[in-house]
Amino acid sequence: MHLLIPAAGSGSRMKAGKNKLLIELEGESLIYWTLKSILSSSSISWVGIIGQPKDKELLLNSVKNFSNQVKWINGGETRQESVFNGLNSLPKDAKKVLIHDGARCLINPELINKCAAELEKNEAVILATKVTDTIKIVDNKGFIKETPNRQYLWAAQTPQGFLVDSLKKAHKMAIDKNWIVTDDASLFEMLNWKVKIIEGNYSNIKVTSPIDLKIAKLFLKDSYT
Ligand code: CTP
Ligand code: MG
Repeated sequence: MHLLIPAAGSGSRMKAGKNKLLIELEGESLIYWTLKSILSSSSISWVGIIGQPKDKELLLNSVKNFSNQVKWINGGETRQESVFNGLNSLPKDAKKVLIHDGARCLINPELINKCAAELEKNEAVILATKVTDTIKIVDNKGFIKETPNRQYLWAAQTPQGFLVDSLKKAHKMAIDKNWIVTDDASLFEMLNWKVKIIEGNYSNIKVTSPIDLKIAKLFLKDSYT
């Protein structure tokens, strides 16, 4: 199975003054840990890393010996553009693809394998967890409009997996129609195409804000010491 890693963000919410994937955690860069899990997954045979050209040297150096096991792809202004560039750089024989955010460095190889296995049986899959908070939909004046039934709420994660041709088609449609989304499954939903939920685990956080670094450090310590 082919896997693409969007890694071309700027990490503005992390406020580290650089791409958050270059931040060091337990002696290695954040992206190193993400890649280590991916390359330990028996189902993954090809990996593309999508990054900003200005980060190329630093990102590839920070993953050390893994760098010769990945293909470099230039990213875009938004995550959506970065993934589209990734899709266009896949080898011709790639029929299905998993997309996994570089920022989710606590993913484990078993969950990646589970997504790959489910993608063999479904056209599109995503990892997600049941929401435990009560979620409010709020108007632009800061007042609650409604509370959706929590029974139907799931928090989307990555990996997300798709048939390459379908995902390309969805991305092209999005460009035509100016759809802006923060994950790939959203495009399938807008087209009324089915996406299967796979229950993941709560530790697979997206490292976004400084507090997430503390959590990631604790988990990495646990797994590797
Ligand atoms: N990403 C990307 N290309 C972009 C923007 C984001 O490949 N133009 C990637 C990020 O590197 C990250 C993933 O998409 O691995 C999820 O995005 P997010 O957590 O929002 O990361 P950033 O965009 O870097 O952070 P922020 O939104 O706080 O600036
Ligand atoms: Mg972002």
